Order: sequence, then C-alpha cells, then structure tokens
Amino acid sequence: MKGGLFITLEGIDGTGKSTQLRRLVQHLRKCGYRVRATREPGGTRAGERIRTILLAASTGKLAPLAELALMYAARAQHLEEVVRPALARGEIVVSDRYNDASFAYQGYGRELGIATVRALDRIVCGKTQPDLTIVLDLDPELALARARGRETRRKSRHGRFESQGLQFHQRVRAGYLAIARRAPQRVKVVPANRPVMEIQREIRALIETLLGGRGKKQGTTI
Ligand code: TYD
Repeated sequence: MKGGLFITLEGIDGTGKSTQLRRLVQHLRKCGYRVRATREPGGTRAGERIRTILLAASTGKLAPLAELALMYAARAQHLEEVVRPALARGEIVVSDRYNDASFAYQGYGRELGIATVRALDRIVCGKTQPDLTIVLDLDPELALARARGRETRRKSRHGRFESQGLQFHQRVRAGYLAIARRAPQRVKVVPANRPVMEIQREIRALIETLLGGRGKKQGTTI
C-alpha cells in the first residue's frame, strides 16, 4: 500500500478501546496486511518512560501545560521512531490514541483550549495526521466505573486520569464529539455500549470503506 495508512482509536477511559484494537489488528493481519500496532503515550522506550510519569498517581498534580508538553514529547519520539518509518514502508499503523487525545484531554478536559494544542500539533505532527479516527463513545459514568473496576481487579491504584472526576471525563467526551463534528470525514463515532463483536464489525466496515477507496486488491474482504 503506497504511503501506508494511519488509523487511530480514541475515546474516554473504559470504553473497551484496547480490546477492539487487539481484535482489529489480529483481523487485519489475517487478511494479509502488514500492521504496526502501537500506543500513546508510549510506543518507544523513551515514550514509555514519559508515559510512566504521565500516568502514575505518584507524579501528583502536573501543570496542564507540562502535561501537554510531555504528551507531545512522547509523540515526537513515537513519530520519528515508529509511525513515520512504518507509514513510509507502506504499513497500516494502528495506534491506541494519538493527537486527538491531546485535543480532548488537555484542550477540553484540562481546559487549555484547542488553539494551544493546535500550535504544538503543527510543530510536532505537521502533516502526519490520521487517515481514520474511531472514537468509541460511552456515557462517562459507565466508562469510569469500568475503568476503575479494571484498576481494582489489577490491584493497581487509580492512575492520574482515572482519578479525575466525572466532570473532567464529561468535558473530554464532549471534546471528542466536537472533534468528530468538525472533521466528519476522518473521525467516526462508534457507540460503545454494545456487544464487543458488534462494535468490532462496525469498525471493520469503516476500515474496509477506507481501504476500498485507496484501491486495495480486488476481491479482498477484510
Ligand atoms: P490509555 O493508554 O488509554 O490508558 P489505559 O491503557 O490505562 O486505559 O491512556 C492513558 C491516559 O492518557 C488516558 O487517560 C488518556 C491520557 N492521554 C492524554 O491525556 N492525552 C494524550 O495526548 C494521550 C495520548 C493520552
């Protein structure tokens, strides 16, 4: 595939994003595509260390701009080491979160505003924008209960983001929905309060449409 394809999965915590991503990647590989699965913040050695700072409750309160700058520091490394090389090789890059998370969490959630996020985004991401972004959408009350239940099962402390109150997550969700309204061609909202396979089928259909438009091999069904 010339120029590769960049797909990102987004949504507030507890929407089942990671499960959907895993299934999607397995499926695309079974169909014969070369897929690079990755995540943010992280995806590189340096990025995973930055992730620890960002997510650990022990970090305590970060100034919103410090949080944003760390997200983009990890992202710059991720772009250089992983995303751009994989796209240049013609692979499908599937990332568990990317720059829309900064618009939603830091721009809306932390109320830094989208102009600030956009300024950094122009410098760091530039033209490397997703071809398709899937936003898994769920009522924040339900999503937060799921995310916190998962943390409890893992016997880990709630991270910096899961500990944020309901209002924070409501702002983040509103942020994602606003992003989707502004870029309806690229950003697709998928309701996530449904059986896993039903959601997965919808995601696959969205990607199939995109691959079809890109002139994938005739007769290949993903
Ligand atoms: P995620 O990997 O989805 O967490 P988990 O695997 O524990 O579910 O994301 C980590 C957190 O980082 C999540 O709460 C959202 C947040 N985040 C931002 O605030 N801004 C960003 O730009 C990114 C990429 C993530």
